[in-house]
Amino acid sequence: MEVKTVEWLDGKVRWLNTMLLPKEEVYVETSDYERIAVAIEKLEIRGAPAIGVAAAFGIALAAYNYSSANVDTFKSFLLRVIERFARTRPTAVNLFWALDRVKSLIINYSGDVDGLKGLVIREAIKIYEYDIEVNRKIGINGLKYIDDGDVILTHCNAGALATAGYGTALGVIRAAWYSGRRVEVIATETRPVLQGARLTVWELSKEGIPVKLITDNMVGYVMSRGLVSKVIVGADRILLSGHVINKIGTYTISAVASRHGIPFLVAAPKSTIDPKTKVDEVVIEERDPDEVRYVLGKTLITLPNVEVINPAFDITPPELISTIITEDGVAEKPVDINLPRIFK
Ligand code: MRU
Repeated sequence: MEVKTVEWLDGKVRWLNTMLLPKEEVYVETSDYERIAVAIEKLEIRGAPAIGVAAAFGIALAAYNYSSANVDTFKSFLLRVIERFARTRPTAVNLFWALDRVKSLIINYSGDVDGLKGLVIREAIKIYEYDIEVNRKIGINGLKYIDDGDVILTHCNAGALATAGYGTALGVIRAAWYSGRRVEVIATETRPVLQGARLTVWELSKEGIPVKLITDNMVGYVMSRGLVSKVIVGADRILLSGHVINKIGTYTISAVASRHGIPFLVAAPKSTIDPKTKVDEVVIEERDPDEVRYVLGKTLITLPNVEVINPAFDITPPELISTIITEDGVAEKPVDINLPRIFK
């Protein structure tokens, strides 16, 4: 049942254009790396781990189609391609994690063009396979936090559609569901791009996992009425200080969850942990104001020239987080103390 969000097809990359969901299920195929960079910018491929995998496949495509025998020129070309992908989206660290993995192979390589082509392509496939494996482990590690009968609120989409498969936050929900726990999900719509309404609802419904949709401003009400027992979200970047950078609106949800004593769980691979950046150095992507002025580029809901603030992500401080679940262990509260332990 699970979708193939992005995959390598021997010299081509294929992805599901998530901007068209849930109306249309359109797969796009290309052999042009620039088309993949544009797909990341336009959110056809989105979600921190999926962006990293797609960028790695983009470099693999660039390598696959290269024709010249000079290895130094080839290396410089690939490093320019990496720079192109680094400019697509600034916040999700998985992108830079994947780019750095490929980059260090290129820099340290001494051999011919064909050897380097093979190496880059194999590395991209490894990054893809690793992501699926890691998500399944996150699901298993998260199982103990989910009880039979839980109603779990999630924000944005941290599912198969945000990764190479299975998902992080939705991976934990999947693991619980397939182990027999009767859970229900409340998905926030996630303005302005509606990843919750369009993607999370679609992905869970496809597998028969019960899901109800709310608008973002209903979170306080449903929590105050006792309708939510846990919150679980993914992350785009987690600092060693325990700050979690995730889809805009996550911070608000964590604050209300804390007010009502509702556990706030974050599920993410270790490739989302950024050990270098300090909280005031994090670059929050500011997106096109028309995402806010229009609903999905179609209906204008305000004055056409109104000034807009459109940050794509926000920062949740460690004191509002109950648990961070990774493939390699779990950091319980206080996460600022416990996260560095598992990061080692
Ligand atoms: O702008 P997006 O759709 O790329 O934002 C995605 C999120 O914020 C997800 O919650 C995050 O990447 C985790 S995905 C496993």
